[in-house]
Amino acid sequence: MEEKPAAPPRIRVLISEDQIRERVGELGRQIRADYGDRPIYLIAILKGACIFLSDLARAIPGPVRFDFMGISSYGRGKTSSGEVKVTKDLDLSLEGADVLIVEDIVDTGVTLTYLAHVLQQRRPRSIQIAALLDKPSRRLRPVQVRYVGFTIPDEFVVGFGLDFADDYRNLRDVCVIEE
Ligand code: IMP
Repeated sequence: MEEKPAAPPRIRVLISEDQIRERVGELGRQIRADYGDRPIYLIAILKGACIFLSDLARAIPGPVRFDFMGISSYGRGKTSSGEVKVTKDLDLSLEGADVLIVEDIVDTGVTLTYLAHVLQQRRPRSIQIAALLDKPSRRLRPVQVRYVGFTIPDEFVVGFGLDFADDYRNLRDVCVIEE
């Protein structure tokens, strides 16, 4: 007998493209106001933060540079395992720079705790964090996230850069896959 193709997953919009656009605009203006006319070094973590980075960089008026870092954590399904390593390093020197780490989502806080520690050793002038999404209910490590787009409940989200097994990054909204 022929096998039926699996039904496509049902996808529910949690945060719409319009809401994201408006909030990213607000964050960009707030960030520039906080940094005065100083250059801001945006450091995005591959791959999930790329789409947020490209919108945020354009929402911040004045001098901005950006660079990318690859990080992998072992044994990840839908959660962090706690072990992290750098798989692609930066091209820019951060010495004396005002660094703003750009993340798609802060979940347990393991990734950002590790990254902040690695970047601190490069003697920047300051390090802050901007995250599009924050899931504070799952935090294992305390992380100070200076700029948060949206605080969300404990649901696994995809879209706007976020993936499930590398799919769905291109969705324009932040969505939940219904089981
Ligand atoms: P943390 O180290 O647990 O804070 O993990 C942060 C990383 O886990 C994010 O950069 C994402 O790559 C991934 N992640 C955490 N929650 C989600 C989710 O709901 N959807 C997709 N990826 C997630």
